[in-house]
Amino acid sequence: MTLTGIIDSFKTILNPSKIMNSLEGAASFSDSSERDSEGDLKINPYFNFGNDAANSSNAVRISQNKDEPLIKLTDVWKIYQMGEVEFAALKGINLEIYEGEFLIILGPSGSGKSTMMNLLGCLDLPSKGTVCLNSKDISELDESELAIIRGKMIGFIFQTFNLIPTLSTEENVLLPLEFQEEDRQIARQKALYLLDIVGLANKKQNLPSQLSGGQRQRVAIARSLAVNPPIILADEPTGNLDTKTGNYILDFLDELHAREGKTIIIVTHDLELVKYATRVVYIRDGEIEKIETRTKNEPSTKNEPNLN
Ligand SMILES: Nc1ncnc2c1ncn2[C@@H]1O[C@H](COP(=O)(O)OP(=O)(O)O)[C@@H](O)[C@H]1O
Ligand SMILES: [Mg+2]
Repeated sequence: MTLTGIIDSFKTILNPSKIMNSLEGAASFSDSSERDSEGDLKINPYFNFGNDAANSSNAVRISQNKDEPLIKLTDVWKIYQMGEVEFAALKGINLEIYEGEFLIILGPSGSGKSTMMNLLGCLDLPSKGTVCLNSKDISELDESELAIIRGKMIGFIFQTFNLIPTLSTEENVLLPLEFQEEDRQIARQKALYLLDIVGLANKKQNLPSQLSGGQRQRVAIARSLAVNPPIILADEPTGNLDTKTGNYILDFLDELHAREGKTIIIVTHDLELVKYATRVVYIRDGEIEKIETRTKNEPSTKNEPNLN
Protein backbone atom coordinates (compact mmCIF):
# COMPACT_ATOMS: atom_id res chain seq x y z
CA MET A 1 0.00 0.00 0.00
CA THR A 2 1.27 3.49 -0.78
CA LEU A 3 1.58 6.16 1.85
CA THR A 4 -1.45 7.93 0.42
CA GLY A 5 -3.36 4.67 0.68
CA ILE A 6 -2.33 4.26 4.29
CA ILE A 7 -3.32 7.83 5.13
CA ASP A 8 -6.67 7.39 3.38
CA SER A 9 -7.42 4.18 5.21
CA PHE A 10 -6.57 5.89 8.49
CA LYS A 11 -8.85 8.80 7.63
CA THR A 12 -11.66 6.36 7.06
CA ILE A 13 -11.22 4.73 10.42
CA LEU A 14 -11.06 8.01 12.29
CA ASN A 15 -14.78 8.17 12.63
CA PRO A 16 -15.14 11.28 14.74
CA SER A 17 -18.63 10.64 15.99
CA LYS A 18 -18.09 7.10 17.09
CA ILE A 19 -15.86 7.74 20.04
CA MET A 20 -18.21 10.16 21.69
CA ASN A 21 -20.89 7.66 22.61
CA SER A 22 -18.18 5.76 24.33
CA LEU A 23 -16.71 8.76 26.06
CA GLU A 24 -20.03 10.00 27.26
CA GLY A 25 -20.69 6.59 28.76
CA ALA A 26 -17.27 6.50 30.25
CA ALA A 27 -17.84 9.96 31.70
CA SER A 28 -20.16 8.45 34.25
CA PHE A 29 -17.00 7.25 35.95
CA SER A 30 -15.72 10.73 36.45
CA ASP A 31 -16.28 12.65 39.63
CA SER A 32 -18.96 15.18 38.83
CA SER A 33 -17.73 17.53 41.55
CA GLU A 34 -14.58 18.06 39.49
CA ARG A 35 -16.39 19.01 36.33
CA ASP A 36 -16.38 22.51 35.00
CA SER A 37 -19.68 24.31 35.04
CA GLU A 38 -18.35 27.15 32.89
CA GLY A 39 -19.07 27.22 29.18
CA ASP A 40 -20.97 24.71 27.16
CA LEU A 41 -18.65 21.73 27.15
CA LYS A 42 -21.53 19.53 26.14
CA ILE A 43 -20.94 20.66 22.55
CA ASN A 44 -19.25 17.72 20.96
CA PRO A 45 -16.45 18.99 18.72
CA TYR A 46 -15.91 15.50 17.29
CA PHE A 47 -19.24 15.83 15.47
CA ASN A 48 -18.42 19.11 13.84
CA PHE A 49 -16.01 18.19 11.12
CA GLY A 50 -17.34 14.92 9.77
CA ASN A 51 -19.55 14.40 6.78
CA ASP A 52 -22.76 12.35 6.91
CA ALA A 53 -20.92 9.14 6.22
CA ALA A 54 -18.51 9.78 9.04
CA ASN A 55 -21.38 10.47 11.39
CA SER A 56 -23.31 7.35 10.53
CA SER A 57 -23.49 4.65 13.12
CA ASN A 58 -21.98 2.09 10.75
CA ALA A 59 -18.90 0.66 12.35
CA VAL A 60 -15.89 1.50 10.24
CA ARG A 61 -13.43 -1.36 9.92
CA ILE A 62 -9.78 -0.77 10.56
CA SER A 63 -8.78 -3.74 8.46
CA GLN A 64 -10.14 -4.51 5.05
CA ASN A 65 -10.71 -8.01 6.30
CA LYS A 66 -11.65 -8.55 9.92
CA ASP A 67 -10.12 -12.01 9.84
CA GLU A 68 -6.73 -10.44 9.23
CA PRO A 69 -4.80 -9.47 12.35
CA LEU A 70 -4.47 -5.77 13.06
CA ILE A 71 -0.94 -6.32 14.34
CA LYS A 72 1.12 -9.40 13.58
CA LEU A 73 4.52 -10.24 15.06
CA THR A 74 6.42 -12.98 13.27
CA ASP A 75 9.54 -14.44 14.89
CA VAL A 76 10.36 -11.08 16.44
CA TRP A 77 13.71 -10.64 18.16
CA LYS A 78 15.00 -7.55 19.89
CA ILE A 79 18.68 -7.61 20.62
CA TYR A 80 20.20 -4.74 22.57
CA GLN A 81 23.85 -4.07 21.97
CA MET A 82 25.87 -2.82 24.93
CA GLY A 83 29.43 -2.37 23.73
CA GLU A 84 30.64 -5.88 22.95
CA VAL A 85 27.77 -7.53 24.75
CA GLU A 86 24.46 -8.45 23.12
CA PHE A 87 21.30 -9.01 25.11
CA ALA A 88 18.20 -10.58 23.59
CA ALA A 89 15.20 -8.92 25.25
CA LEU A 90 12.71 -10.64 22.91
CA LYS A 91 13.41 -14.08 21.49
CA GLY A 92 11.25 -15.16 18.60
CA ILE A 93 7.83 -13.72 19.48
CA ASN A 94 4.88 -14.82 17.34
CA LEU A 95 1.66 -13.00 18.11
CA GLU A 96 -1.44 -11.88 16.24
CA ILE A 97 -3.62 -9.13 17.67
CA TYR A 98 -7.10 -8.58 16.28
CA GLU A 99 -9.29 -5.53 16.13
CA GLY A 100 -11.47 -5.14 19.22
CA GLU A 101 -9.33 -7.24 21.54
CA PHE A 102 -8.58 -6.22 25.10
CA LEU A 103 -5.14 -7.77 25.29
CA ILE A 104 -3.05 -7.92 28.45
CA ILE A 105 0.62 -8.77 28.06
CA LEU A 106 1.61 -9.97 31.50
CA GLY A 107 5.11 -10.64 32.75
CA PRO A 108 7.52 -9.88 35.57
CA SER A 109 9.91 -6.95 35.56
CA GLY A 110 12.60 -7.35 32.89
CA SER A 111 10.60 -9.87 30.84
CA GLY A 112 10.51 -7.60 27.77
CA LYS A 113 7.12 -5.89 28.13
CA SER A 114 8.23 -2.33 27.40
CA THR A 115 10.39 -3.60 24.55
CA MET A 116 7.31 -5.30 23.13
CA MET A 117 5.18 -2.18 23.61
CA ASN A 118 7.73 -0.11 21.70
CA LEU A 119 7.50 -2.53 18.78
CA LEU A 120 3.70 -2.74 18.87
CA GLY A 121 3.54 1.05 18.90
CA CYS A 122 5.97 1.45 16.00
CA LEU A 123 8.32 3.32 18.31
CA ASP A 124 11.10 0.84 17.54
CA LEU A 125 11.91 -1.80 14.93
CA PRO A 126 12.79 -5.46 15.59
CA SER A 127 16.36 -6.71 15.23
CA LYS A 128 14.98 -9.77 13.42
CA GLY A 129 11.53 -10.84 12.31
CA THR A 130 8.62 -8.68 11.18
CA VAL A 131 5.98 -6.47 12.76
CA CYS A 132 3.01 -5.93 10.46
CA LEU A 133 0.30 -3.37 11.03
CA ASN A 134 -2.75 -3.87 8.82
CA SER A 135 -0.71 -6.46 6.90
CA LYS A 136 1.99 -3.87 6.20
CA ASP A 137 5.55 -4.55 7.36
CA ILE A 138 6.46 -1.49 9.44
CA SER A 139 10.17 -1.88 8.66
CA GLU A 140 9.35 -0.88 5.08
CA LEU A 141 7.94 2.45 6.19
CA ASP A 142 10.12 5.52 6.54
CA GLU A 143 10.19 7.70 9.64
CA SER A 144 7.54 10.12 8.39
CA GLU A 145 5.17 7.27 7.56
CA LEU A 146 5.77 5.76 10.99
CA ALA A 147 5.10 9.14 12.57
CA ILE A 148 1.75 9.29 10.78
CA ILE A 149 0.80 5.86 12.09
CA ARG A 150 1.87 6.74 15.62
CA GLY A 151 0.09 10.06 15.42
CA LYS A 152 -3.27 8.90 14.12
CA MET A 153 -3.64 5.25 14.78
CA ILE A 154 -2.26 4.67 18.27
CA GLY A 155 -2.99 6.41 21.55
CA PHE A 156 -0.12 5.90 24.00
CA ILE A 157 -0.45 5.83 27.77
CA PHE A 158 2.89 5.54 29.54
CA GLN A 159 3.63 4.45 33.09
CA THR A 160 5.25 7.75 33.93
CA PHE A 161 2.50 9.66 32.07
CA ASN A 162 5.09 11.51 29.92
CA LEU A 163 3.32 14.83 30.27
CA ILE A 164 5.33 17.90 29.28
CA PRO A 165 6.08 19.60 32.62
CA THR A 166 6.06 23.15 31.26
CA LEU A 167 2.72 22.80 29.49
CA SER A 168 -0.67 23.13 31.15
CA THR A 169 -3.17 20.29 31.30
CA GLU A 170 -5.01 21.72 28.32
CA GLU A 171 -1.83 22.24 26.28
CA ASN A 172 -0.72 18.67 26.98
CA VAL A 173 -3.99 17.33 25.57
CA LEU A 174 -3.72 19.70 22.60
CA LEU A 175 -0.25 18.45 21.73
CA PRO A 176 -1.14 15.48 19.47
CA LEU A 177 -3.64 17.67 17.62
CA GLU A 178 -0.90 20.20 16.88
CA PHE A 179 0.68 17.61 14.57
CA GLN A 180 -2.58 16.92 12.75
CA GLU A 181 -3.09 20.29 11.07
CA GLU A 182 -6.21 20.59 13.13
CA ASP A 183 -8.04 23.90 13.14
CA ARG A 184 -6.92 25.62 16.35
CA GLN A 185 -10.43 26.42 17.50
CA ILE A 186 -11.71 22.88 16.98
CA ALA A 187 -8.57 21.45 18.58
CA ARG A 188 -9.22 23.54 21.68
CA GLN A 189 -12.85 22.44 21.81
CA LYS A 190 -11.72 18.84 21.59
CA ALA A 191 -9.14 19.25 24.34
CA LEU A 192 -11.70 20.86 26.65
CA TYR A 193 -14.29 18.25 25.78
CA LEU A 194 -11.91 15.39 26.60
CA LEU A 195 -10.81 17.05 29.82
CA ASP A 196 -14.46 17.34 30.78
CA ILE A 197 -14.98 13.66 30.01
CA VAL A 198 -12.10 12.63 32.29
CA GLY A 199 -13.37 15.03 34.95
CA LEU A 200 -10.55 17.56 34.77
CA ALA A 201 -11.99 20.56 32.94
CA ASN A 202 -11.47 22.67 36.03
CA LYS A 203 -7.75 21.79 36.05
CA LYS A 204 -7.06 22.90 32.50
CA GLN A 205 -4.59 25.58 33.53
CA ASN A 206 -2.69 23.45 36.04
CA LEU A 207 0.81 22.25 35.28
CA PRO A 208 1.42 18.50 35.70
CA SER A 209 3.30 19.23 38.96
CA GLN A 210 0.06 20.73 40.30
CA LEU A 211 -1.90 17.52 39.78
CA SER A 212 -2.15 14.25 41.68
CA GLY A 213 -0.83 11.03 40.12
CA GLY A 214 -4.33 9.89 39.20
CA GLN A 215 -5.15 13.25 37.67
CA ARG A 216 -1.95 13.15 35.61
CA GLN A 217 -2.86 9.74 34.31
CA ARG A 218 -6.30 11.06 33.37
CA VAL A 219 -4.65 13.91 31.43
CA ALA A 220 -2.50 11.28 29.71
CA ILE A 221 -5.64 9.35 28.79
CA ALA A 222 -7.37 12.47 27.46
CA ARG A 223 -4.24 13.16 25.40
CA SER A 224 -4.16 9.59 24.10
CA LEU A 225 -7.76 9.99 22.89
CA ALA A 226 -7.32 13.40 21.27
CA VAL A 227 -7.00 12.09 17.71
CA ASN A 228 -9.58 9.35 18.31
CA PRO A 229 -7.18 6.48 17.61
CA PRO A 230 -8.51 2.96 17.05
CA ILE A 231 -5.74 1.43 19.18
CA ILE A 232 -4.86 2.33 22.77
CA LEU A 233 -1.50 1.06 23.95
CA ALA A 234 -0.66 1.35 27.63
CA ASP A 235 2.54 0.46 29.51
CA GLU A 236 1.81 -0.24 33.19
CA PRO A 237 -1.02 2.33 33.21
CA THR A 238 -1.72 1.74 36.89
CA GLY A 239 1.90 1.26 37.97
CA ASN A 240 2.17 4.58 39.76
CA LEU A 241 -1.38 4.77 41.06
CA ASP A 242 -3.20 3.66 44.20
CA THR A 243 -5.68 0.80 43.80
CA LYS A 244 -8.79 2.98 43.67
CA THR A 245 -7.42 5.32 41.03
CA GLY A 246 -6.00 2.37 39.12
CA ASN A 247 -9.43 0.75 39.04
CA TYR A 248 -10.95 3.99 37.78
CA ILE A 249 -8.46 4.14 34.91
CA LEU A 250 -9.03 0.50 33.98
CA ASP A 251 -12.82 0.85 34.19
CA PHE A 252 -12.51 3.81 31.86
CA LEU A 253 -10.50 1.81 29.32
CA ASP A 254 -12.89 -1.09 29.74
CA GLU A 255 -15.77 1.20 28.91
CA LEU A 256 -13.99 2.44 25.78
CA HIS A 257 -13.44 -1.15 24.74
CA ALA A 258 -16.99 -2.29 25.45
CA ARG A 259 -18.85 0.62 23.88
CA GLU A 260 -16.42 1.51 21.14
CA GLY A 261 -14.76 -1.72 20.19
CA LYS A 262 -11.41 -0.02 20.45
CA THR A 263 -8.43 -2.31 20.51
CA ILE A 264 -6.81 -2.02 23.93
CA ILE A 265 -3.34 -3.41 24.58
CA ILE A 266 -1.86 -3.19 28.06
CA VAL A 267 1.53 -4.42 29.18
CA THR A 268 1.78 -4.97 32.92
CA HIS A 269 3.17 -7.09 35.75
CA ASP A 270 -0.11 -6.69 37.66
CA LEU A 271 -2.13 -9.89 37.76
CA GLU A 272 -5.16 -7.89 38.95
CA LEU A 273 -5.63 -6.43 35.47
CA VAL A 274 -6.21 -9.84 33.92
CA LYS A 275 -9.92 -9.61 34.74
CA TYR A 276 -10.37 -6.92 32.08
CA ALA A 277 -8.76 -8.93 29.30
CA THR A 278 -10.27 -10.89 26.46
CA ARG A 279 -6.86 -12.52 26.00
CA VAL A 280 -3.75 -12.70 28.15
CA VAL A 281 -0.25 -13.21 26.80
CA TYR A 282 2.18 -14.38 29.49
CA ILE A 283 5.79 -13.47 28.78
CA ARG A 284 8.95 -14.37 30.63
CA ASP A 285 12.60 -13.80 29.68
CA GLY A 286 11.58 -12.46 26.28
CA GLU A 287 9.47 -15.45 25.30
CA ILE A 288 5.75 -16.16 25.27
CA GLU A 289 5.03 -18.68 27.99
CA LYS A 290 1.37 -19.17 27.16
CA ILE A 291 -1.66 -17.38 25.73
CA GLU A 292 -5.02 -17.59 27.43
CA THR A 293 -8.36 -16.56 25.92
CA ARG A 294 -10.80 -15.36 28.52
CA THR A 295 -14.42 -14.55 29.02
CA LYS A 296 -14.31 -11.12 30.54
CA ASN A 297 -14.49 -10.67 34.31
CA GLU A 298 -13.98 -14.37 34.90
CA PRO A 299 -11.82 -15.08 37.97
CA SER A 300 -8.25 -15.83 36.93
CA THR A 301 -7.17 -19.44 36.71
CA LYS A 302 -5.23 -21.07 39.51
CA ASN A 303 -2.24 -22.23 37.53
CA GLU A 304 -1.00 -18.80 36.56
CA PRO A 305 2.74 -18.44 36.94
CA ASN A 306 4.10 -16.79 40.03
CA LEU A 307 5.25 -13.39 38.84
CA ASN A 308 7.18 -12.35 41.91
N1 LIG B 1 18.15 0.00 25.73
C1 LIG B 1 18.50 -1.15 26.34
N2 LIG B 1 19.77 -1.60 26.31
C2 LIG B 1 20.11 -2.76 26.90
N3 LIG B 1 19.26 -3.57 27.56
C3 LIG B 1 17.97 -3.16 27.63
C4 LIG B 1 17.52 -1.94 27.04
N4 LIG B 1 16.19 -1.81 27.28
C5 LIG B 1 15.84 -2.91 27.98
N5 LIG B 1 16.89 -3.71 28.18
C6 LIG B 1 16.89 -5.00 28.89
O1 LIG B 1 15.94 -5.82 28.25
C7 LIG B 1 15.17 -6.55 29.19
C8 LIG B 1 13.69 -6.25 29.01
O2 LIG B 1 13.47 -4.90 29.35
P1 LIG B 1 12.02 -4.26 29.33
O3 LIG B 1 11.41 -4.51 28.02
O4 LIG B 1 12.13 -2.84 29.78
O5 LIG B 1 11.29 -5.16 30.42
P2 LIG B 1 9.95 -4.91 31.26
O6 LIG B 1 9.23 -3.75 30.66
O7 LIG B 1 9.21 -6.19 31.17
O8 LIG B 1 10.38 -4.64 32.67
C9 LIG B 1 15.71 -6.19 30.56
O9 LIG B 1 16.63 -7.17 30.98
C10 LIG B 1 16.41 -4.86 30.32
O10 LIG B 1 17.48 -4.70 31.21
MG1 LIG C 1 8.58 -1.91 31.46
